[in-house]
Amino acid sequence: MFENEALWDLGTPIGKSDEEYGRARCPTKGDIKRLRDMVGAMVSPERVVNGNEKRRRDMEFNDVLRKRRTIRFYERKDVDKASLQKLLEAARLAPCGGNMQRLRYIVVSEDREKVKSVFEQTAWGAFVKPRRSPKWGENAPLAFILLTCSKENGTVAHADAGAAVQNMQLAATDLGLGCCWIGSFNHDKTAEILELSEDMVPLYLLAVGWPAERYPVSEDAVEGDSVKYYLDDENRLHVPKLTVDSLTKWI
Ligand SMILES: Cc1cc2nc3c(=O)[nH]c(=O)nc-3n(C[C@H](O)[C@H](O)[C@H](O)COP(=O)(O)O)c2cc1C
Repeated sequence: MFENEALWDLGTPIGKSDEEYGRARCPTKGDIKRLRDMVGAMVSPERVVNGNEKRRRDMEFNDVLRKRRTIRFYERKDVDKASLQKLLEAARLAPCGGNMQRLRYIVVSEDREKVKSVFEQTAWGAFVKPRRSPKWGENAPLAFILLTCSKENGTVAHADAGAAVQNMQLAATDLGLGCCWIGSFNHDKTAEILELSEDMVPLYLLAVGWPAERYPVSEDAVEGDSVKYYLDDENRLHVPKLTVDSLTKWI
């Protein structure tokens, strides 16, 4: 229907009615060129950043931002290399102090024994223990990304890691994957398992997998409310987030 209408609109010369011009004619080369131009304009960057397309894209971005939640139970299904590659691509584009690019990544997904060994070094969901503590062979993540940096890099590497992890989490959410940013893990053991060189230190782990829990929800909280995440009667995680008004002073 769209095609016919578009061709018809393009093909009917100004000043002539459809009937006069004859509905059954074949599209001319000129018609096809005009149609191509029109389709091109519909997907051109100018159109994407103007009008409805821009509003639609903003909505999608907002959806990803709002949907991202820490996931702690995963399906027993491998995370494909292409998806992990997309997370790393998102990480490398993240801002970092002085653009010095201090972070290095170790992806642990192919060697299942190593994944298990790394998993054994991790601690999960302190406020909802043990109801969000994954078990190996049941609902544990099947991929980890370790963020590392050289021993010489100080606190700025942690800030860099924050931006990189967040980019990866948003990219993962967009792909339907779930993640857990893990700061509580045995650093020395993990360094040993992954044979980190002497001059490198582990910063954070990002667990990655296909979500296998009722998707957690965030809810608004105000100053004074408990901000501890909790499980409801239906075993769904709730994550209170303080409102902008509670967090912000405008001067
Ligand atoms: C620096 C940092 C370290 C974290 N370490 C852990 C961890 O070791 N284990 C865990 O289960 N969650 C960990 N988390 C996830 C937080 O618990 C989670 O982000 C928080 O509860 C808010 O939930 P949300 O990510 O769904 O917004 C960590 C998050 C951050 C930012």
